[in-house]
Amino acid sequence: MKSIALVFFLLRGAELRHGGGVNKAPRRTRQGDYLHRLRWSPPWSESTMENTAVSTTKTDRRGASPPPAAVRSKEADRVERLPGQPAASVGEFPQYAGYVTVHAAAGRALFYYLAEPVGTGNGSSGSKPLLLWLNGGPGCSSLGYGAMQELGLFRVMSDGKTLYRNPYSWNHAANVLFMESPAGVGYSYSNTTLDYSQSGDNKTAEDAYLFLTNWMERFPEYKGRDFYVTGESYAGHYVPQLAHQILRHKPPSINLKGIMIGNAVINDWTDKKGMYDFYWTHALISDDTADAITKNCNFTAATEEPGDINIYNIYAPMCQSRKLVSPPITPSIESFDPCTDHYVEAYLNDPDVQKALHANVTRLNHPCVRFGYWVDSAPTVLPIIRELMKNNIRVWVYSGDTDGRVPVTSTRYSLNQLQLPVAEKWRPWFSSTKGNGEVGGYVVQYKGDLSLVTVRGAGHEVPSYQPQ
Ligand SMILES: *[C@@H]1O[C@H](CO)[C@@H](O)[C@H](O)[C@H]1NC(C)=O
Ligand SMILES: *[C@@H]1O[C@H](CO)[C@@H](O)[C@H](O)[C@H]1NC(C)=O
Ligand SMILES: *[C@@H]1O[C@H](CO)[C@@H](O)[C@H](O)[C@H]1NC(C)=O
Ligand SMILES: *[C@@H]1O[C@H](CO)[C@@H](O)[C@H](O)[C@H]1NC(C)=O
Ligand SMILES: *[C@@H]1O[C@H](CO)[C@@H](O)[C@H](O)[C@H]1NC(C)=O
Repeated sequence: MKSIALVFFLLRGAELRHGGGVNKAPRRTRQGDYLHRLRWSPPWSESTMENTAVSTTKTDRRGASPPPAAVRSKEADRVERLPGQPAASVGEFPQYAGYVTVHAAAGRALFYYLAEPVGTGNGSSGSKPLLLWLNGGPGCSSLGYGAMQELGLFRVMSDGKTLYRNPYSWNHAANVLFMESPAGVGYSYSNTTLDYSQSGDNKTAEDAYLFLTNWMERFPEYKGRDFYVTGESYAGHYVPQLAHQILRHKPPSINLKGIMIGNAVINDWTDKKGMYDFYWTHALISDDTADAITKNCNFTAATEEPGDINIYNIYAPMCQSRKLVSPPITPSIESFDPCTDHYVEAYLNDPDVQKALHANVTRLNHPCVRFGYWVDSAPTVLPIIRELMKNNIRVWVYSGDTDGRVPVTSTRYSLNQLQLPVAEKWRPWFSSTKGNGEVGGYVVQYKGDLSLVTVRGAGHEVPSYQPQ
């Protein structure tokens, strides 16, 4: 734990000394970037937590003053209509958004957005399960990514204002709860600035647990409902760690059935090995560089050689212009617009949107922020996964197979560490509704109810690239 913090500190020091000159073009912060920088590559000169989200002043917050969790009611959190929401979808499904206080004295509150299933009308969430979705980073917004670019109800058009329906939103199957964590990410905040420099795995899990139990008090109809914790990227830590908290406390209100993690950070050394093996097998680095990595642990050339590609989906196009386009270009769900990040950023910073979401408390600068400091990061979550399996919690691990950040090779090496016997052997799965039986990816099931599922042609954010 301490060594991670120290490495981080040193990296930050180096960054300051370089005066921000290391970088070429401005880059977007993405999920996993932080992690990559932390452990595996030289720091980038981008703004860090200290000068982005944390710069929120008292004045920013005055307008909002949400009452503490217990006081605030579910009805007060109802979102009638989001700005730019297509008329046909208004009233199609209930949406709620707001804050749940996790530490009253510090003034720390986490933001959530709940999308109940299509066709459930007014507030009746049916009997469908509750699914919590967490994005990674650390520092990435579950609203900015999960809800608005991946599995949510809507995507944002190129004008940064108009929404269009994602027909494959996961709320067809479940009540989907997006939560932004830890404090400082997205709309989640703390009135105690010191909190932002004390973030780490441990506190993230504890706050997420408090969030969940407090949230259940506001939405008591979900008590005892089948519950799944899911997420992607660095949420490979958040998800099992939160599940572990639930297992430890055994709250009667939470009926945890399973977890699911995608392109997930699981086990440091195999994740890292798998990443460079993927680079080499996908022709991103030279033989010499691959040799230098295995023989001398020299990673220098491996950060340069791939060039300026989208490492989160190595075959996807890059965003060519961050300008908003009005009137918007006709969007496509099937073919993901690489500039979506910019549209979403504009949308979530719109005061009207924040008002509609009951979220005008902090300023979400960007779907991702960087923490200047991350106190503790477990080198592996495999022991937790093992423990969850022992307690009959189902584990689903999926992987988009064109992601180069936490690639499928990493996931396979990491899971192989568990040495689980195969229950049902590796086989293709098929998309039943589209592509006339085309192979959608591969699946292997292990004894103890752990499945590995790959998604062919999907990048790091699987639902963005292969929404169906
Ligand atoms: C944070 O401070 C603002 C302004 O004083 C207040 O309205 C808000 O309730 C506080 N947040 C929490 C979670 O206590
Ligand atoms: C839901 O309830 C609100 C107020 O209670 C009402 O205005 C609205 O028409 C209802 N919507 C549906 C779809 O029943
Ligand atoms: C966090 O750290 C404290 C103190 O070391 C420990 O008691 C607690 O169990 C940890 N929580 C988690 C979620 O690991
Ligand atoms: C690592 O590789 C780089 C580029 O290939 C090279 O310039 C450097 O000397 C190597 N470092 C060590 C310690 O071998
Ligand atoms: C909060 O809303 C007010 C009024 O709608 C707006 O002027 C202000 O810029 C918003 N604050 C933030 C931090 O977005």
